Amino acid sequence: MAVPPEEIAQVRAATDIVGLIGEQVALKKAGRRWSGLCPFHGEKSPSFSVNAEEGLFYCFGCHKSGDAITFVRETQGLDFIDAVRLLADRSGIILHEDEKASGASKDRAHLLSAMEQAVEFFHQRLLSSPDAGRARDYLRSRGYDGETVREFKLGWAPDEWDHLAKHLKVSDEILEKSGLGFVNRRGRQQDFLRARIVFPIFDPGGRAIAVGGRILPIEPGAPLPERPEPKYKNSPETPIYSKRRTLYGLNWAKKAIVETSEIIVCEGYTDVIAFFGAQLPRAVATCGTALAEEHFAVMRNFAKRIVLAYDADAAGQNATSRVYEWERKHDIDVAVCQLPVGTDPADLARKDPGALRDAVANAKPFLRFRVDRVLDQSNLDTPEGRARAAEQALSVIAEHPDELVRDQYLIDVADHCRLDAAMLRDRLVKHRTGERILATHERTNSGQAERSEERSEQAVVEDPRDRPGLEALRLAVHRPDLVAGRLEAFLFSNEDQHKAAEVLLATETVADAIAAAPPAAAALLRRVTVEEPTIDEDVSDPVGPVIAQLLRVLVRQRIAELQLGLRRGEGDVSVAAKTIGALQLAIEDLGNEESTVEAEAWLLEWFAHDLEGTDA
Ligand code: GTP
Ligand code: MN
Repeated sequence: MAVPPEEIAQVRAATDIVGLIGEQVALKKAGRRWSGLCPFHGEKSPSFSVNAEEGLFYCFGCHKSGDAITFVRETQGLDFIDAVRLLADRSGIILHEDEKASGASKDRAHLLSAMEQAVEFFHQRLLSSPDAGRARDYLRSRGYDGETVREFKLGWAPDEWDHLAKHLKVSDEILEKSGLGFVNRRGRQQDFLRARIVFPIFDPGGRAIAVGGRILPIEPGAPLPERPEPKYKNSPETPIYSKRRTLYGLNWAKKAIVETSEIIVCEGYTDVIAFFGAQLPRAVATCGTALAEEHFAVMRNFAKRIVLAYDADAAGQNATSRVYEWERKHDIDVAVCQLPVGTDPADLARKDPGALRDAVANAKPFLRFRVDRVLDQSNLDTPEGRARAAEQALSVIAEHPDELVRDQYLIDVADHCRLDAAMLRDRLVKHRTGERILATHERTNSGQAERSEERSEQAVVEDPRDRPGLEALRLAVHRPDLVAGRLEAFLFSNEDQHKAAEVLLATETVADAIAAAPPAAAALLRRVTVEEPTIDEDVSDPVGPVIAQLLRVLVRQRIAELQLGLRRGEGDVSVAAKTIGALQLAIEDLGNEESTVEAEAWLLEWFAHDLEGTDA
């Protein structure tokens, strides 16, 4: 399945490396080069540089370097051939690929093409089709003119069950994989969206990857539907669409975001469009999901500051304390703009665009916003009310990881509630120990290290990569019910952890395991028996993410081995390529809520078989 060198050279030459990298990193021209924040390591000042003429990138911080192909491989986790294919697709070059090639990127190209055609189909229907009259009226009533409709490429999915499918003429597989349709019980192709206004969703480079469809309001006097339809139907996760990463509007907003270093995040497609209408063309929205860390990782490449523009109630709830963690990790500030309760940006933009602009300009730091909300909603006229307000404010402040920040807010709360700051500090400690089990672990571990000579070195310099394994061992000891049948010794790459898991799985009780284990593994088991798992019991499968983390490490290792084998010309090339493709797909599925359970089971089984072959 080798692509001839001249074709690879052709693909390299046809790729605009600044455009390619610019889809993921905000690049600024600096002399003859372009520079920006390195996407491969966290940094505050740009040391990542792109040379357009040579087609190369280089980071002075982490020393990563390469060409367009390397960049795609590294950022998208593709192998060489798939990276070449992806770039070829971008440039419209057709490779003389042979049949044995791994299907992943061919699939992607088909899905992207189907999506592009679908978006164009919906758009034309909205612009000119007689059956879209009501949709056009509705959009006009919301203040959308033709220009807006064209700018955002809005569309209309006709009130028919298969008009899109008939137009696309793609295989059942592509139709289903793209999320644009499915095969119904009669074995016929059917559209996913019907009688809905279509908001196409694009990747940062402007390729359509998904659609969201909104129903029209029920006509006055029309009979109510038997079964109420959801207001929006959004594309499912597909190989070209990851909700945890995608930000609606980023393709249009990118330029203004880079210019201002600020990105506005709202909740709905119509909110984004409203911000553009209010001369704030730097707004994006999550696509029917909560803000995830992956979104942060995307945004940090373009902006220094995120302004959350949610409905006032949602802003408090949707964004969790993890925001602080992500702020630090990705070096980006999060602020919240205060909208009137029950009002979203789209409402406010229609009523008073100036007020919307003011709200953005006056956005407050996330913690300031939350503390103010507690104080605003409290009755500060009575001692009881002030005590309650202080208590609630402390629980909000406790989530912030920086003591210097916490203390300033604490003093402010003490002022407002007419309480002694020293007393509040004592109480804050309690709030923090209550919430930070993880921090407690870290303290216990280092405390243990001081006391026990036995394992002093190991406990002090704990490798963060060992954390998922540690957590899995804690679970195995304390919550065997949750991990039954899902933990295998091969999941642990750390040698001591591996041994500890092995004996633990082979013995009746933890005491037996400790007795049977070699010293280092026994010490590890002793340690985890005095620690609590840090899992969040409220979520439906608290163990899943831990196992997923272990599997990811394992898969990465296995893929690297397979690739090494390929480079050395060992084994069957097509089998190895297929295996790599399947593993990559499984890892992707592991990250998606809908498919994670299946992916975990598949991977566990796959590794069990794989190791049978090599271990015996
Ligand atoms: P308008 O009400 O037309 O202004 O749309 P909106 O985008 O403001 O909708 P809303 O504030 O109700 O919801 C915000 C976002 O949540 C939407 O853009 C959708 O992505 C998502 N959403 C809303 N309703 C639904 C629903 O019924 N199902 C799903 N899957 N997503 C929804
Ligand atoms: Mn809304």
